[in-house]
Amino acid sequence: MAGPIIIGNWKMNGLTKDADHIISALLTYSNNHKNFAKTVVCPPFTQLQHVKELIKNTPYGLGAQDCHVASKGAHTGDIAADMIKDLGAEYVIVGHSERRKDHSETDQLILQKTQAAQSSGLLPVVCIGETKEERESGQYKEVIATQIKGSLPSEFKGLVAYEPVWAIGTGISAKNEDIAEVIEFIREKLIAQYGENGKKTPILYGGSVKPNNVKDIFAIAELGGVLVGGVSLIPEDFLQLVNIAQ
Ligand code: G3H
Repeated sequence: MAGPIIIGNWKMNGLTKDADHIISALLTYSNNHKNFAKTVVCPPFTQLQHVKELIKNTPYGLGAQDCHVASKGAHTGDIAADMIKDLGAEYVIVGHSERRKDHSETDQLILQKTQAAQSSGLLPVVCIGETKEERESGQYKEVIATQIKGSLPSEFKGLVAYEPVWAIGTGISAKNEDIAEVIEFIREKLIAQYGENGKKTPILYGGSVKPNNVKDIFAIAELGGVLVGGVSLIPEDFLQLVNIAQ
């Protein structure tokens, strides 16, 4: 498996001045460090073009936070995967729990978005994870198995991000043994679904990843990287994650 990937999801944050501030710190880092972990930023749509210009000819990757299922058409306010690819991005997050909740996104819709992303040449980062109630009732494995079966296509070329909903933005990351258990479970399911190819899919963890817990999180076997929300807006902390990952 390739080295870990760190994906910063800015969510609905980032005016031009914020993008300038964050990317300027990232550029200082890349000017002073060679061969660090693959690092990707996912700004809101309004900043994609600007960030793309800022990170041109640097090692940083670019991703979007969502895409529509169609490649074009009468879908006011939506953005197609082809448009994101055309802009020069490589990744797109799909199925984030905030979109599942705020926009009632289902596994079926996420499957279509994943297919649209793949068709356009983007790498989808498909998010799955259980709620607090599902964790506490012990149903989390069934929930995750259903999400994998329902939102991943018959041929999958992308990344999976395990994000327990209760750990997102709470400051309380899942315990390492719990992350490890679910990542191992996801790997088994991927192998059952895709055979040898299922061994190659990077499985990321997301949920309150911070400089003070990332080292332990990176020690988890099978972990392919982290999906970072809040800390991706604080460049000095985000870069600590990058530094620890290398
Ligand atoms: O996409 C990122 C995740 O939702 C994690 O967010 O690091 O703020 O908990 P967080």
